[in-house]
Amino acid sequence: MDCDMTSDMSPTCAWSEPEWSSASRRAFLRTASGATVMALLGITATGCSDGNPTGAEPPEEPAEDGPAGIMVDGNQVILDLTSDATEDLTTQGGFLLIDEADVMAINVDGTTIRAFTSVCTHQQCTINAFADDTFMCPCHGSEFDTQGEVVAGPAPQPLTEYDVSRSDDTVTITK
Ligand code: FES
Repeated sequence: MDCDMTSDMSPTCAWSEPEWSSASRRAFLRTASGATVMALLGITATGCSDGNPTGAEPPEEPAEDGPAGIMVDGNQVILDLTSDATEDLTTQGGFLLIDEADVMAINVDGTTIRAFTSVCTHQQCTINAFADDTFMCPCHGSEFDTQGEVVAGPAPQPLTEYDVSRSDDTVTITK
């Protein structure tokens, strides 16, 4: 803004636009979201109907669901062992990969379930197989035992193990 301070009463000011080329203005408008433009213009949407006429807080985001029987809720994965999706975990050697949470679980002895990160400690591939008491990474062949320890490289670190609690047919894994 340019102001003429020589006036006897009040300064006379003239608005001068920022020196944007029309190309940069177009680029800005293309990339700025509608909300950003409205915010810059001082426009709020409080007067608009958003389908919530009471103004009450919206409900919390629902938990992220995987297949039926697998629920990911924040740092917890809750498994219903009566569902088809988790039935592999009910027998010794059973393996379940829960992609939604980067978690894998195994039944080590018929009753005990252990859970680990499914992210390989080498280059973060998803470990997706379990056989002969060994987790196997498909990318470069790293292998881990049922304690999460490296039994074949190149993985440099063991897998992070998560807490598992069980109440009847409900298993809760806490990351
Ligand atoms: S990322 Fe798993 S072995 Fe390389």
